[in-house]
Amino acid sequence: MNETLPDTIRPIRFDGGALYLLDQRRLPGAMRENRYDDAGDVAAAIRDMVVRGAPAIGIAAAFAVVLACRSAASAAAADWRAQVERAIAQLEASRPTAVNLFWALDRMRAVLAACPSADEAEVRTLAEAQRMLAADIAANRRLGAAGAELIEPGRAVLTHCNTGSLATGGFGTALGVIRSAWAQGRIREVFADETRPWLQGARLTAWELLHDGIPVHLLCEGAAASLLRSGQVGWVIVGADRIAANGDTANKIGTYGLALLAREHGVRFMVAAPVSTIDFDTADGSGIPIEMRPESEVLELGGRAIAPPGARGWNPAFDVTPARLIDAIVTELGVVQQPDRARLAALREPIAAQ
Ligand code: MRU
Repeated sequence: MNETLPDTIRPIRFDGGALYLLDQRRLPGAMRENRYDDAGDVAAAIRDMVVRGAPAIGIAAAFAVVLACRSAASAAAADWRAQVERAIAQLEASRPTAVNLFWALDRMRAVLAACPSADEAEVRTLAEAQRMLAADIAANRRLGAAGAELIEPGRAVLTHCNTGSLATGGFGTALGVIRSAWAQGRIREVFADETRPWLQGARLTAWELLHDGIPVHLLCEGAAASLLRSGQVGWVIVGADRIAANGDTANKIGTYGLALLAREHGVRFMVAAPVSTIDFDTADGSGIPIEMRPESEVLELGGRAIAPPGARGWNPAFDVTPARLIDAIVTELGVVQQPDRARLAALREPIAAQ
């Protein structure tokens, strides 16, 4: 069944000892890959949004660790562990909110701990990063199918930011649900917020959906209230950068507002994310670090000033939606309806068994 789903984009690949990232800053104008041989350059690429989206950031960082091992191996460095750890620390400092980054780097640390040499570390970390990439795509296909089952045919959906192939290893989380549901004829129309200030919705989601043959209507965030009041939309479907143990969910700035609007208008609200996005060590949303990005991202558009000199910008990249506003958290290990601490904890055992 899955083979027939529209799914043709892959943002991350490792080939011939180098990492290739589709440069998402250039989309939709140009589809160009950048080549990376150095872990520090990958950390900069994550910070600068060449690659973005929580799972994609984690996977890119995992491959960056391979690059660090490769450099240490080719230099026959006696202190190879310290060199690789420095690279990991640099990657950890790239973006603070998406927990998948820290999850992926912890997994790489565990692999490194069992390696006797840098050569061996290069081989084993590469195998682990490739496994992570394949597992992410498989997880997205599973959660996509599970989320689609919740959608009764005949209504539209609204999504926010980009949660698709571009934001993951492939297929996507919220967009994975939308891909699956669209293929099953359950969705009448897809609406996507443009998602200021980076315009992930306009530049990436619209491009990705059209690339895979799914029509889309774009709207300014300010139009979401009217859309939800119109009665056309059955579900708002979003991804997540970090889900706290009680279900509070950090996602792209504007998500919280959408959840409030959805509740007000009787529209259901779905968060779709792999279990690697759940942070059981953070009790609730107040403990999630929220990245503040440069003011210039708000004050400029495409490099041109849109505000008068002297105006200041306020630019949190994420906000936190309280669990009580979420109807379902959809993961590859199951759907948690009306999420709370106890219901989410039920996912812990299967995660530990993985
Ligand atoms: O700043 P970004 O583009 O990295 O933010 C991405 C998001 O907020 C996505 O909605 C989230 O990572 C889920 S992606 C599967």
